[in-house]
Amino acid sequence: MDSTTSDLGCTLAGGVSALSPQTLIAFRLTVLAHYRERGRDLPWRRTRDPYHVLVSEVMLQQTQVPRVLKKYDQFLAAFPTVLSLSGATVAEVLGVWQGLGYNRRALALHRAARTIVFEHLGVVPRSPVELRSLPGIGTATAAAVCVFAYDLPLPFIETNIRSAVIHFFFQECVAICDTDVLSVVELTLDRENPRDWYYALMDYGAWVKKTYTNPGRRSRHYAVQRPFSGSRRQLRAAVLRVLLSVSPSGMVLEDIRMAFPLAGRDSAEVQDVLQELINEGFLVCVGRLYRVS
Ligand code: ADE
Repeated sequence: MDSTTSDLGCTLAGGVSALSPQTLIAFRLTVLAHYRERGRDLPWRRTRDPYHVLVSEVMLQQTQVPRVLKKYDQFLAAFPTVLSLSGATVAEVLGVWQGLGYNRRALALHRAARTIVFEHLGVVPRSPVELRSLPGIGTATAAAVCVFAYDLPLPFIETNIRSAVIHFFFQECVAICDTDVLSVVELTLDRENPRDWYYALMDYGAWVKKTYTNPGRRSRHYAVQRPFSGSRRQLRAAVLRVLLSVSPSGMVLEDIRMAFPLAGRDSAEVQDVLQELINEGFLVCVGRLYRVS
């Protein structure tokens, strides 16, 4: 097939590889002009320390920049090196992470730090394959670390990049595939200076999202986030927060259930969440006492 076609009939004539050099250059110029005018100065862009970059990219996985801004410095003040993070307890790491959400990321980052110390002599790997073998590091995060810490010209997609490409190249399309978006990223990548190029691309995408109806919605991979309120995720977060803040040395089920904001929650449901958190490595239960591990 020589064209890029979605189930719903979206077509880029001739396929992504047939995009004209003029169109590709116009995209580059648009993105760079936007960056000159409105590029963001973000603290994780002022460093090439691979551990600091790794921390920022994990934080940014499912969380917007303003919330990460509030935590990034605090987290690095508490755990300035991969060695310090590897030596911390789960409770210490989760304690600092509170407010960012998705606690699984904190647990995975902590485990990744331990693997980096014990299996990579404390050096964050510069190979995407090795990075992907670490807990919580997927394809995009591995590539982002390689780009921002090691200036390697690897193509990758995250939410802002997807929006930038869809907005510029796929105006009339719906159900656009990431394989097509990635092809455009690869074609337009600045191989001499990938780091700055990606900053510019992400900032353009973030601006596009704010300015137009989020183009990411026209991605085939777009998923509506389920509401946090009333969710299992909220209950898990509340149980962890109670254990971290009320009595880090341990609590029995009845006391956990009575603590704000859990008061009145069904006992079986709370117990089920406690068991799930034990299975995942967040908690231990000694006798009848639950505590963060
Ligand atoms: N700068 C570096 N990485 C970023 C990301 N994932 N999102 C926004 N800005 C960034």
